[in-house]
Amino acid sequence: MKKTFLILFLFAGPLMFAQAKITLDASGAKTQIHKEIYGHFAEHLGSCIYGGIYVGENSPIPNTRGIRNDIIKALKDISIPVIRWPGGCFADTYHWKDGIGPKEKRPKMMNVHWGGTVEDNSFGTNEFMDFCELIGAEPYISANVGSGTVKEMQDWIEYLTSDADTPMANLRRENGRDKPWKVKFWGVGNESWGCGGEMRPEFYSDLYRRFASFAFNYSGNRLFKIASGANAFDYNWTEVLMKNIPLWQMQGLSLHFYAVENWSKKGSATQFDENQWYSLLNFSSQMEELVNRHTAIMDKYDKEKRIGLMVDEWGTWWDVEKGTNPGFLFQQNSLRDAIAAGSNLNLFNNHADRVRMANIAQTVNVLQSMILTKDKEMVLTPTYYVFKMYKVHQDAKLIPAQLSGMPVYNMHNEKLDLINVSASVNNEGEINITICNLDAEKEHNVEIELKGTSVSRAEGEVLTGDKINSYNDFGKTEEVHIKPFGGFKVKGNGIDVALPSKSIVHLTIKK
Ligand code: AHR
Repeated sequence: MKKTFLILFLFAGPLMFAQAKITLDASGAKTQIHKEIYGHFAEHLGSCIYGGIYVGENSPIPNTRGIRNDIIKALKDISIPVIRWPGGCFADTYHWKDGIGPKEKRPKMMNVHWGGTVEDNSFGTNEFMDFCELIGAEPYISANVGSGTVKEMQDWIEYLTSDADTPMANLRRENGRDKPWKVKFWGVGNESWGCGGEMRPEFYSDLYRRFASFAFNYSGNRLFKIASGANAFDYNWTEVLMKNIPLWQMQGLSLHFYAVENWSKKGSATQFDENQWYSLLNFSSQMEELVNRHTAIMDKYDKEKRIGLMVDEWGTWWDVEKGTNPGFLFQQNSLRDAIAAGSNLNLFNNHADRVRMANIAQTVNVLQSMILTKDKEMVLTPTYYVFKMYKVHQDAKLIPAQLSGMPVYNMHNEKLDLINVSASVNNEGEINITICNLDAEKEHNVEIELKGTSVSRAEGEVLTGDKINSYNDFGKTEEVHIKPFGGFKVKGNGIDVALPSKSIVHLTIKK
């Protein structure tokens, strides 16, 4: 008996329990999945902005006022709701007035954090706002608190949003934009515990209070102010900010978490084995603990959940691709990244009562990007397809899900759930269910029971690849993309589905 126990304990691999079942109660669908959970982040880093998004008006690459047409189309197709800019660490070195007016007169600066390149400021405020309008996304601007002044930030808000006859609004008019823009999401610093100023939470909360006091609402614009939140497991940071900043002064508090097990040995984005597959998915699943624990602290001070948890940087972070500048964070993106993204998005949906926004890092050519570019070529990554598949959840109502009998992967002293899910119902009464199967080898049969509604018709699609490290690359047929899926059977008030190994399945249930 003892021996059997020992063998079981040492066994690393999937453990099966009873029939796996997901129960969805449509009558409990009350919480809105804010579309901003599907948000993005574009920093002046490597070739995210320059080359990736912006090539300039005179580029042979087809563009609209300097912004790549292929990127505009691809990003519109995934319905990006909000995009964070200009950083990241870059934000606390950025002085917005350097990036307005005639381009030939804009001063240059050194991008000290990212490769020491010279930033010519040709992509600045007007170009960013133009980009947002072209892709239909809301801007989320991170203001410079680390090396900037309150006055500088106040002027920026006035430049962007005021319709009055005042110096900053007139400066905007001189630069060709008559009407003010609407800007909702306003970040007060970035990683103020690190590259944003190495501050302590007590100091930052006071500074936040000061900066936020001068972040005015002009001409009917209403700012949603976001404090620079914790680095991953730093619960004290959240505690101190929640304690010291009055609730009325802050609408969002951010959280950053990158799925990196060892910062000095991150590993390859595409060359890995099954152990490394499980290890990353397990590490990345710690997002659940983070969301739960930061939420619990926020609940103490804000029972009504008025302040949003904004996971405004998240994703995987691998070694840069060979031959690329280490400061540019250019990495490939495989099916493993896609499953990690799908699992996190399911998690954010399921915590939509507190998670108000999330911004994967980053949009193009940096970290876990949606798109890779090489001159005029463009590749859509597996993660791009996750965002395409999941866009149906944007602004829909979350359907609470209960899971039972699910397989787990036994990782010696930890257990990884092999299946995760989220479901929502939209205004038309259509139900969308997204299910990740993390099992590298096995298909799993799952019974879905739907309470509070009936099932007459369903459609399916799947994202998977032949190998755990399948990925899309330049000049090659796509290895990972969305395909129609028929591996399910509608029965009475439910659906039996056979989830292929290493896949994400999306089912749509029509009334
Ligand atoms: O996304 C890359 C960097 O990671 C960001 O600039 C910074 O905020 C974080 O540390």
